[in-house]
Parts: sequence; C-alpha cells; structure tokens
Amino acid sequence: MSKKLIVNKILYDILENAPEEEITRQEYFIEQLKEYVATKEKVLNRKLKYIINTFGCQMNARDSEKISGILESAGFMPSDDEKHADFVLYNTCTVRENANNKVYGRLGYLNSLKQKNPDMIIALCGCMMQEENVREKIKTTYRFVDLVFGTHNIFKFAELLVSSIYTNKQVMEVWDKTDKIVEELPIVRKYSYKSGVNIMFGCDNFCSYCIVPYVRGRERSRKSEDIINEIKKLISDGVTEIMLLGQNVNSYGKGLDEKITFAELLDRIAKIEGLKRIRFMTSHPKDLSDELIDVIAKHDNICKHFHLPVQSGSTRVLTEMNRHYTREQYLALVDKIRAKIPNIALTTDIIVGFPGETEEEFEETLDLVKRVRYDSAFTFIYSKRTGTRAALMEDQIPEDVVSKRFDRLLKEVQKISEEKAKELTGKTVEVLIEEENEKEEGFLTGRLENNSVVHFKGDKTLIGSYKNVHLDECKGFYYIGTLQ
Ligand code: SAH
Ligand code: SF4
Ligand code: F3S
Repeated sequence: MSKKLIVNKILYDILENAPEEEITRQEYFIEQLKEYVATKEKVLNRKLKYIINTFGCQMNARDSEKISGILESAGFMPSDDEKHADFVLYNTCTVRENANNKVYGRLGYLNSLKQKNPDMIIALCGCMMQEENVREKIKTTYRFVDLVFGTHNIFKFAELLVSSIYTNKQVMEVWDKTDKIVEELPIVRKYSYKSGVNIMFGCDNFCSYCIVPYVRGRERSRKSEDIINEIKKLISDGVTEIMLLGQNVNSYGKGLDEKITFAELLDRIAKIEGLKRIRFMTSHPKDLSDELIDVIAKHDNICKHFHLPVQSGSTRVLTEMNRHYTREQYLALVDKIRAKIPNIALTTDIIVGFPGETEEEFEETLDLVKRVRYDSAFTFIYSKRTGTRAALMEDQIPEDVVSKRFDRLLKEVQKISEEKAKELTGKTVEVLIEEENEKEEGFLTGRLENNSVVHFKGDKTLIGSYKNVHLDECKGFYYIGTLQ
C-alpha cells in the first residue's frame, strides 16, 4: 500500500469517529491534534512551534487569538520567528491592494523555509481567501501552501488542520457565507489584562469602495447574554479593559430576537463590576444615536474616545461612497458629541483619490479636517478593489495627483494631531501599563484613555496595572513621562 493511502486511512478513521455537534466535534479534533503533536515531539525530540502573522483590523487580531487558542491547546508552543516554526499561518486582509501584495511577497520566502523543513505546515486564512481569484492563484502558483480556509469557517480550524496533516494534498475550504456563530472554543489572549470582544460579525453597508461586506458576509449580532457572559469570564481571568468589536457597532441588535440597541448593550456592559475601561469600534456616523452619546457621557469606565470614520469631506463624494450622511450632518454630529462630552478624543479614517474626486472636493476634506481637529486620523490612498461598485466607476484619479493630495492631507493631519497632543503636556493622567518598551530598556509603555501612548521608566512587574504618569514631553504622536 502506498504511503498516501495509509495516511488517508488514518484520516478516514478519524473522520468516521468524529461527533456531529459542533463544539464537541472541534474538541475531538483538538484531541487528535494533541496526539499528532505528542508523537511528532518524540520523533523530533523537541517541541513543535507555531507563528501567526496577522494583517488588517481588530477582527483579524481577535480571530488569530482564537486560532492560537486551538494550537496551544493541542500542544504547539509560540515562536517569534518563522524560521523556527513548524506551523506558519498568515491571517490576511484584503481591504487595500498593498495588503494582498505583502502576502504574496512573503510566500516565496516561506517556500524557501519549507525546503529546509519539509514538515513545516504553511496555512493561509482571513479576508483575502474569500476572493476567488486569490484562491485560484494559490492553487496554481503556490502549491506548497498546505491549508487555506476563510473567515466563515475559522471555528473548523482544528478539523481542517487534522485533514491537512493526514493528506498530501493542499486542503482548501472557504465558505461563501454562514449564519453560525460558534463560540466557546479555547482562546489565547495576546494581553492578559485587555481583550477584544466581538459583538457582531460582517457588514451590510456596502460602502461603494469597500470589500469587507463581500469577504465578511452579512451582519450578524451576538446575543447580549453571550457577550455579557464572555465579558464576565474575561474579568474573572484578570481583564480590566475590553474593546467591543464590529464593523459598525452602532447597528448592533439588528436581526436579533431580543430588542436591543448598541447604546443599551453598552449601558449594561458598563454596569458590570470590574471593568476599568471600555472601548468600541467602529462607529458609522450614519446611525450614531443620541442615546449612545448619553450612555458614554454617563459612565466613567467608557473611554471618552470616538473613532468616527468620515472618509471624505465632500457631500458629493460621500454620496458616491454610499455613506448615507452629508458633510453638514457629520459636522453637526461632531458638534453634538463635543457639546455633551467636551473632553472627547475624536479619530477618523479618510480616503484620498476616490474616483471622480475633484481638487475642490479634496479641499473640502482638508477643510473638514481643519474644522474637526482630529486627535489622529488614518489616511488612505484609494485602492481599487475588484468586485466593489467603485471599481467600475469611470474617472479613476491618476496616481501622481492622488499622491500629492495625500501628502497635503497627511501634513495637515499630523500638524493638528501634534497641536492636540501638546495640550496634554504637563498634565498627570491615569494610564494602563501595557508592555515593556521595545526600543528603550527599562522603559514601559502605557496607554491613555484617549488611546495615545506614553513611555516612561518603570519596572515590568507594573504591566497590567493602572498608574498615574506625568506627561513631561510630547513627541508628536506619543509622550515621554514620569511615573508618579
Ligand atoms: N467598518 C469601518 C471600516 C473598516 S475598513 C468603517 O466603516 O468605518 C477600515 C478603513 O479602510 C475604512 O474606514 C476606509 O477608510 C479604508 N478603506 C476601505 N476600503 C478602502 C479602499 N478600497 N481603498 C482605500 N481605503 C479603504
Ligand atoms: Fe466597509 Fe463601509 Fe462596512 Fe465599514 S461600513 S466595513 S467601510 S462597507
Ligand atoms: Fe481587512 Fe478583513 Fe479587517 S479585509 S480590514 S481584515 S475585515
């Protein structure tokens, strides 16, 4: 019998005995992985190691934690270098084209590592894998990739990895959609004291430039009870800061049997004993309610920070983007928020060079930035995503024009951020001490309520605690401070 057939017989038996109920089923596959890891460790006389490279947004970061949880339950140890890893996963993002190119660029390098360690498993997942042309390219050009899965079947990871281990073929399983929300699988948090919590998945907004609704599927909210139970469990594990995650948290609750809004959910969460800081992202300006502003104003443990992506300062461009608000409505919203919460930090996302954007329309964006005075802003050059409505629009803007506009905007954004940051210099603020500073020995990094960071001298035993720090000096986007 050929080696391949024997291997497939093992897989056949494993699959034959797998339970049907989803959680028990995945736990069963984790047990199978454990056996594999233990056997391999004996043969190699060392531990098996894994590394996950995460691109994109907080959703992907949280998904990577879920995958780490499964790998570590199976006995894999974390590695900080692909060179020493037996399992390498890229959790990809496809929101802009350069995100895709980065991944293709890295694959060649991974192949060279696999030549040296033939047992190395290379896996790809995340938003890029939801695109058919990407999958075709991997099937034809990147045959050495062992496992490919998508955003909807992450909970099947243990099962897919088992299939990949016991076959000699590339395993590729990507679903178009799902109505399932599978929870309660093991999870490893990157930080012991803070955690993301998904409150919803997917997006129904179809902004005309954006690929996310196509790769993350329709909007699905989690039951409030499940969210609250997860948070309580996190608190009992030592978490004091949570970030509620969704592409558009303001439309939380749509489609649930219970009648609940995001403001109500946030109010309930803020009342849970033991949470020092609550953050959330992202808020779509079109459905930000007055109740939400009131809830944020009311609770001390909700961070006074709104990430409120504007995308453009021109009403015509916003209409073409399918954003459902005008420039005037956005500015009025900012005024309303600031009237009720004067110390609120505002951050945003802006796209430069959307198809048809004129010089005057770009200047409207610049003008909006000057009026709102954001604490910080992520600025992006428009990237044409095949499959979106904007990709078909005529009048795509030439690269040199966009890049000049982008530079002008960035300069303005940075100037304002610096001025805003300076306003806090000389003050003493409470920070959550997050980690050791990578660049400077003996220094720690703490995060302010408004999400900016300060570096200061301190002992690493303080990590995870809240302390007062004097902001001595502003370095543009961060501070140098002194522990009080
Ligand atoms: N759900 C969030 C954004 C998710 S994507 C929201 O609606 O605000 C994060 C950011 O990427 C977007 O806010 C947008 O500014 C940017 N982005 C999305 N698609 C893009 C594209 N095709 N080109 C350039 N930037 C894009
Ligand atoms: Fe993309 Fe718009 Fe959905 Fe945000 S709200 S994920 S920008 S479609
Ligand atoms: Fe990227 Fe997917 Fe997030 S495309 S921005 S990782 S939802």
